[in-house]
Amino acid sequence: MVIVREANDGDPAGTAAVFRAAGLHVPRQPSERHHIWVAVSGGNVVGAVEGTFDSDFNGRCRFPPEVTRPHGYLSQLGVLESSRRKGVGTDLLRAYCEAAVDAWVSFIVASPADFDEGMTARSGFFARYGLVEVGTGLYHHLIGATPRDVIARIRARADRVREVAPPLR
Ligand SMILES: CC(C)(COP(=O)(O)OP(=O)(O)OC[C@H]1O[C@@H](n2cnc3c(N)ncnc32)[C@H](O)[C@@H]1OP(=O)(O)O)[C@@H](O)C(=O)NCCC(=O)NCCS
Repeated sequence: MVIVREANDGDPAGTAAVFRAAGLHVPRQPSERHHIWVAVSGGNVVGAVEGTFDSDFNGRCRFPPEVTRPHGYLSQLGVLESSRRKGVGTDLLRAYCEAAVDAWVSFIVASPADFDEGMTARSGFFARYGLVEVGTGLYHHLIGATPRDVIARIRARADRVREVAPPLR
């Protein structure tokens, strides 16, 4: 079973190992500004997401008119290769988006690297949950969506999975 929770003092080594293996940067220490959630299986960190809720992308992104500041910035999301395609990334994205809603953030932005072999996974994953190109960052394009829309898409997917599952006897 995989549990998603906020990172604690015992997680930095596991989180760093997951991010390194996923080709990402070692995460910052969690703080009032930098939030981290981890996915844990059998006592081991198998995935993590890192982000902020006080960013300002005005001038760099095209937002729908109802979007207000601050914006969320999902800086890194990674899952160990052996745990991919099992919904772990989805659970982490959902944890980040739910916290964004709680923090009154109306839009989240990510800047996935666009030059390595993980591109197919990244594009498929973020597109699945409605993140679309909204601008250009320093090095990569910026994608984003409202956290409420992402959560709605994740819920709809979970409902569809339940519909196709055989009924319990
Ligand atoms: C992107 C990443 C986080 C996805 O994690 P994951 O746990 O495998 O994602 P999920 O199992 O929740 O996938 C949900 C959906 O995303 C899409 N998706 C995920 N991986 C995909 C791939 N390799 N190709 C196409 N679509 C993919 C699918 O629609 C998938 O649903 P399905 O399995 O029912 O078809 C993972 O591949 C990863 O860590 N990559 C390396 C690091 C990275 O690129 N991070 C993002 C930028 S910071």
